[in-house]
Amino acid sequence: MEPITDPKNLVRRGYDQISYAYRGDSLPRDRGYFRWLEELTPLLQPGDAVLDLGCGCGVPAAEELAPRFAVTGVDISPVQIERARGLVPQATFICADMAGVAFPPQSFAAIVSFYALIHLPVAEHGPLLARCFQWLQPGGLLMAIVGHSAWTGSEDDWRGAPMYWSHADEGTYLRWLGEIGFDVQWTRFIPEGDGGHTLVLAQRAR
Ligand SMILES: C[S@@+](CC[C@H](N)C(=O)[O-])C[C@H]1O[C@@H](n2cnc3c(N)ncnc32)[C@H](O)[C@@H]1O
Repeated sequence: MEPITDPKNLVRRGYDQISYAYRGDSLPRDRGYFRWLEELTPLLQPGDAVLDLGCGCGVPAAEELAPRFAVTGVDISPVQIERARGLVPQATFICADMAGVAFPPQSFAAIVSFYALIHLPVAEHGPLLARCFQWLQPGGLLMAIVGHSAWTGSEDDWRGAPMYWSHADEGTYLRWLGEIGFDVQWTRFIPEGDGGHTLVLAQRAR
């Protein structure tokens, strides 16, 4: 594979191509997402505003949250966003780079981001987490999959398209979150193949 000069374009084109290969229109309820969201939703009030960064086709997180909360999903892939609008009509979807999107301060009671931050060049992770802090209301919650160990790289054929990933290690995320002002509630190792990721729940102090 040639050196990657425009990783975001590669990721956008990749998910446009593999949207259906990555995720069908529904997902079995034994997948971890549902248990993670069951830990988050009791901490929210009905109708709360929730942001899903890198929402994909809206399944499962936006779809699961939209009946009870005011969900906004952001994704860089036009195909993913078009599917999300069809699959989860109650939610609002924005096709944008999560590192460039803007919201007024204190817009959301919670932000979720599953397996998406890890596609963003790692130099942009800390600044994005700082923006998430600003977008959260006091007491607001961030639940995100972040890197467990540091790695930046790509594959020529990941589920049918070239793909790029970039992330720091768990300790670095915990340091960044602390420096930004988040209180980390817990972290959990989420295995995948030979490796895995870290799921973190962090709170903006009240
Ligand atoms: C592995 S999928 C995960 C989708 C969904 N969160 C899930 O867990 O099923 C990663 C998603 O992040 C999106 N994504 C990657 N980089 C992004 C960026 N810079 N801004 C917004 N979305 C991005 C991709 O288009 C893709 O839909």
